[in-house]
Amino acid sequence: MPIADPEVLIDAAAVAEAVAARLLQARQDHPDLPLGLATGRTMEPVYGALVRRVQALPQPEQQVLRRRWCSFNLDEYVGLGPEDPGSFAAVMERQLGAPLGLERHRLQLPDGLASDPALEANRYGDAVAAAGGLGLQLLGLGLNGHIGFNEPPCGAESRSRCVTLSASTRVQNAGAFGGGPEAVPERAITLGLAEILAARQILLVVTGAAKSAVLQRLLQDPPGPQLPASWLQLHPAVTLIVDRAAWGGG
Ligand code: GLP
Repeated sequence: MPIADPEVLIDAAAVAEAVAARLLQARQDHPDLPLGLATGRTMEPVYGALVRRVQALPQPEQQVLRRRWCSFNLDEYVGLGPEDPGSFAAVMERQLGAPLGLERHRLQLPDGLASDPALEANRYGDAVAAAGGLGLQLLGLGLNGHIGFNEPPCGAESRSRCVTLSASTRVQNAGAFGGGPEAVPERAITLGLAEILAARQILLVVTGAAKSAVLQRLLQDPPGPQLPASWLQLHPAVTLIVDRAAWGGG
């Protein structure tokens, strides 16, 4: 099924507001369904906007949200724990957990310090399933078409597992480590396409001119392993929110 026409907004700030509104709505309308969350530069303004929206709610509503918060992040670097500022656990705590006052266990991520990452990946996939699967899954897009850390080539049946990051992804994410790509961990634990495609709804967010070419491929190419995000065409409920730059409008 082709992905429906995107919501094209003027810039990344407008995208962040629209996405934050949908995340908040999902928590309020379906508190029993876990949110699937993502990290990356695209999501920074999204979480900023979400925090502002929650903090603008009356206190009792904020408390209900806090008490019932349940989310699973897509991925985590192997070898990094929450005390490491480059870990996705630390990013989520800085951008969402601390400002919203969420208890740590409510924001779930794979444990990057687990002694057996493959086993931890299985445990994490099982935890998502035990929670009933994901309600709304938020997704960014890698420059090589990855979602989560599902690097090409990647089949639609792939499950939660430990992966080796591509050289291009380590270059893309080096900024968060204040150095070159060699500062970025080599491996990660990621939910697979199977868990992502099992989410009730998908919210794909793409901003910036650098993503314009991969976005067009994702919309036009037939689904296939060389562009993991293209498997999203198989999902019946994908919402795509982009800014003009990513859409190719400058
Ligand atoms: C990262 C993450 C993805 C993210 C993507 C895009 O490697 N694992 O979940 O969506 O790459 O990142 P950015 O938003 O920084 O471009």
